[in-house]
Amino acid sequence: MFIVLEGPDGSGKSTQARLLVEHLVSRGRQVVQTREPGGTPAAEAIRSLVLNPQFAGLDDRTEALLFAAARAEHVAQVIRPALQQGAVVVCDRYIDSSIAYQGVGRSLGVERIRELSLWATADLLPDLTLVLDLDAAEGMSRVGERDRLELEPQEYHDRVRRAFVELAIHDPERYRVISASGSIQEVAQRIRHAVDEFIAGKPA
Ligand code: TYD
Repeated sequence: MFIVLEGPDGSGKSTQARLLVEHLVSRGRQVVQTREPGGTPAAEAIRSLVLNPQFAGLDDRTEALLFAAARAEHVAQVIRPALQQGAVVVCDRYIDSSIAYQGVGRSLGVERIRELSLWATADLLPDLTLVLDLDAAEGMSRVGERDRLELEPQEYHDRVRRAFVELAIHDPERYRVISASGSIQEVAQRIRHAVDEFIAGKPA
């Protein structure tokens, strides 16, 4: 089973991914936790390039291709092999981040970016995507030192947030929108509930 956490910057995905993994392990599952961009040495190298504020003027298409390249590597080397071994994969960000940040945020087009991402991953889609939803301004106020994308104006982050929710609304079977406001434990409880319910509803 392939579970992805998505959402705007500062929505607490990384903390929640860790807590979800602890929960699944306590239920006896074999779990692989990973993140994008990154997850392999080459993809982490792409991450440090694409998020580096030193490259402020990076072309939008270059940016989209770098995220896609990191994802191709990550799927081929980590995610697909883990799924084939029967592990649950919990991934912090995936294709929908490219759709929201590059497709909508950079106006490169939702369909173009979806196609690029599906080509990069040889069509691997998550079984369940949890969209952590938080007012974009509240999210940015939680972010400490900002990477290259976090330095974008508020209007960009508002569009990105709406894009995630739009994706979720159009496919309620594969998405759950989780409110990311409140305490870490409150959000973790919402996520555990959504995931347990999803797993219970799946044929063994
Ligand atoms: P992330 O490590 O999740 O940042 P944070 O932990 O601060 O939320 O993601 C890094 C940045 O990369 C984030 O601003 C979103 C952006 N991003 C894209 O623009 N496109 C993508 O395809 C991915 C995976 C991330």
